[in-house]
Amino acid sequence: MTAKTMNPLFNLESHQRRALIENGLYLKDILSVEQFTKEDLDYIFLRANEMSEMAARWGTCDLLKGYTLACVFYEPSTRTSSSFIAAMERLGGKVIPITEGIQYSSVSKGESLIDSMLTLEQYCDVIVLRHPEIGSVAKAAKYAHVPIINAGDGAGEHPTQALLDLFTIQKELGKIDGLKVAMVGDLRYGRTVHSLTKLLSQYDVSLRFVSPDTLRLPLDLMNMLIDKGINVRETSKVQDVIENADVLYVTRIQKERFTDLAQYDEVKSFFEITPELMEKAKQKMIVMHPLPRVGEIHYSVDKDPRAAYFRQVQNGMFIRMALLAAVLGQA
Ligand code: NCD
Repeated sequence: MTAKTMNPLFNLESHQRRALIENGLYLKDILSVEQFTKEDLDYIFLRANEMSEMAARWGTCDLLKGYTLACVFYEPSTRTSSSFIAAMERLGGKVIPITEGIQYSSVSKGESLIDSMLTLEQYCDVIVLRHPEIGSVAKAAKYAHVPIINAGDGAGEHPTQALLDLFTIQKELGKIDGLKVAMVGDLRYGRTVHSLTKLLSQYDVSLRFVSPDTLRLPLDLMNMLIDKGINVRETSKVQDVIENADVLYVTRIQKERFTDLAQYDEVKSFFEITPELMEKAKQKMIVMHPLPRVGEIHYSVDKDPRAAYFRQVQNGMFIRMALLAAVLGQA
């Protein structure tokens, strides 16, 4: 964003305002996980736990009363859009949802996307934006005057998903350092994998990447991990990683990102997580998935207590409550 123009805050006494602004995320665009320090992460996780307690006790509160969020999705979404809406409403704020019927062909030309943002910001205090082009959300943020939160830019990043993924790992396993995390599926186009990999590279973890050859992790990310001295291995078989993994992070093969559908058909049934496979896994481990799944985790795995993907969904709302409160200065 280009200027600080948030009204409710500027009615506060200067000492109150200073306390709010000391929160490092205040009025910041949230574009990439690279902008988060470990201190920011600890702070967001602490607040997310408080949000979870608040929701369990009271359901809603007035923390963001008087604020409005525009939720703008140029690509399909179930969890990300609805959890941002639920987060804002639980904090007493209002939402302008623009998640259906968008003809993104007309905004993909760049200027019209910016015009949409410059229009919507007249009605709201923060914008959540998902768009099919890599870099488009950052570009929109350059022009907008309210904070923009990246809800996925094509095969680029999905920072809020990575925050909720990391929060889930911490909550389920009690730590992040020392863990072996295996990422499985479409590592080339999967933006959740890209963001989570970057975030995990701040910790002392071992990473295993399981994919067909055509969907391997992008080289720039692999080089970043190697430069940081992270213990990494690649394989094309889940069987190679299942016994030692503390976290099995499964993703779908992303049909919509393939230009050649014959290539998609070759890899679409590349792997399946079944109860039989889970017998080989540790007793204390978790299976995660950003969802939607399209057959890669069998429904029969859902009753396994190690299947954490729906708990992960719930954590998403608490993380987004914490993030919206921080960005809007209600820390
Ligand atoms: C993911 C996404 O949109 O990148 N879903 C999500 O946000 N929870 C994963 C996917 O679409 O496969």
